[in-house]
Amino acid sequence: MTAKPFNDTFLKACRQEPTDHVPVWYMRQAGRYQPEYRAIRAKHTFFEMNYIPEVCAEVTRLPVEQLGVDAAILFADIMTPLKPIGVDVNIESGIGPVIANPIGSLEDVHRLGELDPDTHVPYIMEAIKILRQQLPVPLIGFAGAPFTLASYMIEGGPSKHYHKTKSFMYTQPAAWEKLMEKLGTLTITYLKAQIAAGAQAVQVFDSWVGALNDEDYRTFIAPVMNRILLSLRETGVPTIYFGVGCGHLLEEWNKLPVDVVGLDWRTSITKARELGVTKTLQGNLDPTLLLAPWEKLEAKAKEILDEGTQQPGYIFNLGHGVFPDAKVETLQKLTSFIHSYRRNA
Ligand code: CP3
Repeated sequence: MTAKPFNDTFLKACRQEPTDHVPVWYMRQAGRYQPEYRAIRAKHTFFEMNYIPEVCAEVTRLPVEQLGVDAAILFADIMTPLKPIGVDVNIESGIGPVIANPIGSLEDVHRLGELDPDTHVPYIMEAIKILRQQLPVPLIGFAGAPFTLASYMIEGGPSKHYHKTKSFMYTQPAAWEKLMEKLGTLTITYLKAQIAAGAQAVQVFDSWVGALNDEDYRTFIAPVMNRILLSLRETGVPTIYFGVGCGHLLEEWNKLPVDVVGLDWRTSITKARELGVTKTLQGNLDPTLLLAPWEKLEAKAKEILDEGTQQPGYIFNLGHGVFPDAKVETLQKLTSFIHSYRRNA
């Protein structure tokens, strides 16, 4: 049997090069909607799945083998690098990250340690090395962005309005700046270690930064995001920046030294282009449509593909993660549909 040739379509799209088919992968493509995932998860806590490189690699490969997607994303969580710097975090099923020692002061920020990837998260680097031997598609590494990490660290868990986070930012600007500096350094160190281990692209998840208006984004967040992305640019590895409900920030995002902008479903690809976004775009099917009748899902996917393929530099994805009640068969069918799509065909 001859090995399948390496499929680099996703990397070509990141670089805005023409591709034979539209590359696709799904945020949260490994998860509870997969019976195989549930079986593994039944035997381990979330972080145990992280700590055992063979399990982490197996779960990362699962959607590549099951769905035939054009990229793999490392199975970990944005909280993974926070545990070793002193954040007492657990992932609770159905809730998300819960933190026992939230941050409230400059002293708390000073107490946070520095990440040393080789000693703190060697299992992540090991999983990446294993995966590079096995995968027929590129491996995406990832990290949480400073605002989104800070939101969990300050709120102590998931939040709707980020009141504590934003009031910390407004009332303790020096502590906020220090926190952004520390989390910025952590993000750079962690992602550069993933790249050194073999990650072929990196996605920075700023899921909750849409809670800020554009002026606050420019003041409190753009400096640290510029620092992170400029530093990553030295590696030559493509970078992706994603957030939920960030349509009002897209003009700011387009100024960042990033290669790919991830859109949620609230802002269409055409709208993002009209706002002047020149980067590769990734997105943006509403994940709820995975639960809709196939005809409805297909019609929306086609509309998105028609918009995305107006110019080179497009990657199909969902506007946010796959829900646990999605069906494996639906994602398989959607992936085949995207792969068979030809513009004007
Ligand atoms: O397949 C992949 O996308 C890779 C793995 C991945 C996970 N989390 C695994 C996970 C990635 C990229 C993340 C990123 C992440 N984690 C983000 C950014 C992306 C986003 O969705 O906005 C955020 C905000 C988190 C924090 C977090 N961790 C949440 C909100 C949850 C979900 C809560 C739930 O139970 O639905 C988690 C837990 C988590 N991370 C699960 C998975 C597969 C579910 C864990 C379980 O099995 O109980």
